Amino acid sequence: MSQNKVNCGRRRLLAATAVLSGTGGLAAIYPLVVSLMPTDGSDFAEEPLEVDVANLMVGAMMTVNWSGKPLWIIRRTPAMLESLLGSSEALLDPQSQQPQQPSNCVNLHRSIRPDILVVIGTCTHLGCLPIAKFRPGEAENMPADWQGGFLCPCHGATFDLAGRVFKNTLAKLNLLVPPHVFLSENRLLIGADKKGA
Ligand code: FES
Repeated sequence: MSQNKVNCGRRRLLAATAVLSGTGGLAAIYPLVVSLMPTDGSDFAEEPLEVDVANLMVGAMMTVNWSGKPLWIIRRTPAMLESLLGSSEALLDPQSQQPQQPSNCVNLHRSIRPDILVVIGTCTHLGCLPIAKFRPGEAENMPADWQGGFLCPCHGATFDLAGRVFKNTLAKLNLLVPPHVFLSENRLLIGADKKGA
């Protein structure tokens, strides 16, 4: 078996363990032992998953189990989107130059549609499950100028509301955006490219 297949299998197993052990995938901590490598989505071999986001409120987030991975879908408010404008100097990869998203998500909001963000909800350091910290402003463990985003409780990595990682933490990559396509206004197909293939 090639090393690539071994790493891929271990990554899937660890992500599956995290999902099966969690309750909604937001609050638990799962120390994992492999680093997540950059990917452009071409290693997603899972079956495409159709997701209905009609009931996803503005400003809210839903978690879906996609082949053992916690998949987050967030319907961002205009204020959330505005928060993405001001933090680029504090981010490690503000322009999404690392291949952590499909090409149609290389933009400020890292999404096809500005409001709907689709990311894999595992930290790019060692795969723990970050916690949603959407409320801006000072809070426990958060900086005073916090604009909203995600905090990884394992080693303190922080990500903005586009899943972009902040500098000076152990995580070095933005959260992974999987290939996806809109089938209609409220129906998404995860794991498919533009042609739905
Ligand atoms: S797993 Fe180490 S910061 Fe997230």
